[in-house]
Amino acid sequence: MRVSVIGTGYLGATHAACLASCGHQVVGVDTNADQIKRLAAGAAPFHEPGLDALLRQGVESGSLSFTADYAAAASADVHFLCVGTPQRAGSHAADLTALWSSVESLAPLLDRPCLVVGKSTVPVGTALQVRDRLRATAPAGDDVDLAWNPEFLREGHAVEDSLHPDRLVFGVDGNVGYQTLCEVYAPMLTAGVPAVRTDLATAELAKVSANVMLAARISLVNLLAEVCEAADADVGDLTQILGYDDRIGSKFLTPGVGFGGGCLPKDTRAFAVRAEELGVGDPVALLREVDAINMRQRARTVNMAVDMVGGRATGSTVAVLGAAFKAGSDDVRDSPALDVAATLQARGAQVCVYDPAANTNAHRAQPRLGIANSVEDACRNADITLVLTDWPEFGTIDPAALIDVVRHPRIIDGRLALDPDRWRAAGWDFHALGRGTR
Ligand SMILES: NC(=O)c1ccc[n+]([C@@H]2O[C@H](COP(=O)([O-])OP(=O)(O)OC[C@H]3O[C@@H](n4cnc5c(N)ncnc54)[C@H](O)[C@@H]3O)[C@@H](O)[C@H]2O)c1
Repeated sequence: MRVSVIGTGYLGATHAACLASCGHQVVGVDTNADQIKRLAAGAAPFHEPGLDALLRQGVESGSLSFTADYAAAASADVHFLCVGTPQRAGSHAADLTALWSSVESLAPLLDRPCLVVGKSTVPVGTALQVRDRLRATAPAGDDVDLAWNPEFLREGHAVEDSLHPDRLVFGVDGNVGYQTLCEVYAPMLTAGVPAVRTDLATAELAKVSANVMLAARISLVNLLAEVCEAADADVGDLTQILGYDDRIGSKFLTPGVGFGGGCLPKDTRAFAVRAEELGVGDPVALLREVDAINMRQRARTVNMAVDMVGGRATGSTVAVLGAAFKAGSDDVRDSPALDVAATLQARGAQVCVYDPAANTNAHRAQPRLGIANSVEDACRNADITLVLTDWPEFGTIDPAALIDVVRHPRIIDGRLALDPDRWRAAGWDFHALGRGTR
């Protein structure tokens, strides 16, 4: 099929490359000319395992192209909307500026029957507005169909998740949209991926609801961690015990500095705003607590670090290991690691950050922070070291070797990534949110 993908960031670039690898003829359109240039050369503008190879393959075979010119989308039969829907400045609501702008640019090109498919995460009710706007302004009028097909990919696993999703959601208001989506995703459906056919509103709610569930789970485990700390209990052992209960399960059960990134925080907030608009304000108070507990983890980590260096950040040297919001990604949007690093710096510490993939983005977002190219360089003469992103490489650090690099062997494990016994045995003053002092 001839497909256009509008917006080629983390979601769109991956989606475009994966659809091309499934045999479709795909054009990616984005307003960011630099990004388009890199993608057109077959290179991902961000860190995503496996994506470079897929992009190169698509571009070289001629099945995948990228452009800043919307006109190139005109010949497609299916158009995926993948633009960003960040948090609106000064509000918890979603900012739909890019979505409406993409609809305005696309509509005049739609002069024959086609399907527009929303993939961006939007407040429930947006899809109907998009459909009405398209039908009112596109030359094809009512021959423009709309579907919503939310995306569940995880950064760091985006290619794998796109090629082998655990489910597909087809939000449609008729058979045409449904049949077209079945054709687009034929390889996945043939491989047995379950597809749920539903209405537009339920499809819009699917992604944001998944993120609300995940955010609540992390904040709940962080609440348990804080109680563990107060009771001198160990949240690592506690989550292991909980994880054996298959009603609870062990995934997404790691306490620490909290969730971040371009989705969970803003989706949880936007969901709450939309629920209030729909008259469901009271139970949404729960989500405000979820958010508050999450932000509290960052503040608790900063306070723990300041306490460990003697009560004042000023004059101390801090090593922060990790800047990405999670391992496997270079995304620093709303990253707890970077937030903690910047707060310590603002409180007078000299902070040096090392991340295996996100150094460039960390520098762009927080130019005043020092950036190092290795764990050792970041930790040189540090008064305290903080592990704030769950990169596997940090779990393999040899505490006996690192002790010779730092000025004071003090460490905070903000991701439950380190073995407390091993670090303490090597002579480190070891602390972690939710872990006892023994
Ligand atoms: N990143 C994820 O893991 C993920 C997963 C599932 C869903 N989502 C959702 O997907 C959407 C996109 O997220 P993302 O992380 O890819 O964001 P992103 O910021 O990485 O990419 C958005 C892209 O849209 C482009 N854009 C903005 N306005 C445009 C316009 N008018 N026309 C064409 N392009 C335009 C931007 O230049 C940018 O490249 C969001 O709604 C997000 O919530 C993201």
